[in-house]
Amino acid sequence: MSASDAVPALDERDHWGSRLGLILAMAGNAVGLGNFLRFPNEAVRAGEGFMTAYFVCLVLLGLPLMWMEWSLGRRGGRLGYSTAPGMLQSLTSLRAVRYLGAIGIVMPLLIVIYYVYIESWTLGYAYQAATGELGASIGATQAHLAEYTGASGGFAGHAEWMGSTTAYTFLGITLLVNLFVLSRGVMKGIEIVAKVGMPLLVLIAVALTARVMTLPDQDGREVADGLALFWTPNIERLFSSGAEVIWLAAAGQIFFSLSVGSGAIGTFASYLTDDDDVALTGLTTVSANEFCEVILGGTLAIPAAYLFFGSEQVAEIAQSSMALAFVTMPDIFASMPMLGGEAGPASVQVFGTMWFGLLFVAGITSSLALSQPAMAFFQDLLGISRGVATLIVGAIITLCVQPIVLVPGVLEEVDYWAGTFGLVVFSLVEVVLLMWVFGARRAWGELHRGAEIRIPRMFFWIMTWVTPAILFVMLGFWGWNQALPILSMERSPGGGDYSLAARHGAWIARGMMMGLLAFVVVLIAVASKRGRFDAVMALHDEEDGA
Ligand code: ALA
Repeated sequence: MSASDAVPALDERDHWGSRLGLILAMAGNAVGLGNFLRFPNEAVRAGEGFMTAYFVCLVLLGLPLMWMEWSLGRRGGRLGYSTAPGMLQSLTSLRAVRYLGAIGIVMPLLIVIYYVYIESWTLGYAYQAATGELGASIGATQAHLAEYTGASGGFAGHAEWMGSTTAYTFLGITLLVNLFVLSRGVMKGIEIVAKVGMPLLVLIAVALTARVMTLPDQDGREVADGLALFWTPNIERLFSSGAEVIWLAAAGQIFFSLSVGSGAIGTFASYLTDDDDVALTGLTTVSANEFCEVILGGTLAIPAAYLFFGSEQVAEIAQSSMALAFVTMPDIFASMPMLGGEAGPASVQVFGTMWFGLLFVAGITSSLALSQPAMAFFQDLLGISRGVATLIVGAIITLCVQPIVLVPGVLEEVDYWAGTFGLVVFSLVEVVLLMWVFGARRAWGELHRGAEIRIPRMFFWIMTWVTPAILFVMLGFWGWNQALPILSMERSPGGGDYSLAARHGAWIARGMMMGLLAFVVVLIAVASKRGRFDAVMALHDEEDGA
């Protein structure tokens, strides 16, 4: 059998409708809650010097990984694979790598499982803001924070919100909306949402940023000084003892925010045609993400929080990105006058709806992208229809989100392993297989196929040596200092001790993660038995014989 026998023609597979749609969908994939919640928080927590480390990580990790995942994804698509098992198998004849690909399906799915829950809060809060139900008063933040951090180690909603009927209602709506879009496929579902959602997101974010930036001084504090909390360069601090915390925060943010190392970028890139450019479009995705993160995300929440609360309280608020978004921001809106108007309940209504609406749009474009590898896996490798794949993915998320909602500590544990550590592990797998096993020159050629720009040669060396070296160091360091203590429950992902409740949560989370991984590994074995990898193996045989 030749490789082409088993490859469905592009019009039989999912594909993008237009270049603009592809770019907006890729930007939507990357731009998410991470840009507006996680970024400002990480930046303030890490403090001076963070932005320098962040840009270094962007150039040495983020951009190279983005290019590599686009190349890998498009190559996989050419051979009829939209998910990691097939993509990785296309790089080497070693059969075991297809099983490593399970990480590229399970990890984004695990992220989706808690991501949709937070996304559903944004929808619920947007609704409550729009209807005027969202109560907020300046000065209430302290009390809210205490109540809030008591709920679940600081990474959950208000105590009364958790597990409530309201929370479940909005979770149900959010899930149904996600599943409906997924059931319509890539072009008629995801692409349409991105085409509407991304311009809307930028519009709202620009309007809110403009309002924050033009706010008058409060008690002698200027809004611009809020930026200095993390924009102040401090090169010395980046090389002093304890600097690894800043570097790891910066690298972790780059991974999460760009969605690299999760498998989601590769799946989207697999819907390209063979000679579609990946060099310029990959760069465009990174630029769009950075614009939304650094320019919009960075100038919104933190400067506003600084203006109204001052730097000491901002440091406390920054202990939890959820506190910043769901507690502090409504309180800020209560004192934020509309242009030419007064501050008060109406401003909470207007700005609150805009803020939570913005977060919901940012969230949904990312949750759709993170769900797509699982959708594609069921369709492409197991030959299941899109409708049934939607039902299976929906059932998995619905089942697995229950412990996230009900048991403290599950969300943090999953977030650590899938949303932080796992991204580095899977990136390393991808880079080593692409640059070292498949070969740096071939990978560079693949990246430049149909390219509309020539990438500076410097990146050839960065991708071949620097990116993998940094990933090895990070994994070693992170593994030793964080993953091992967390694995043995000496320290929780949040840095404190594991409470008894959090220990139970952690075990549930671990069982769930291992269960999903085992499930996908078994399904890859089933796909192997059905000959789904035969074509690509035949290709390797042909190449070996040539
Ligand atoms: N990249 C997505 C985000 O930033 C997951 O939220």
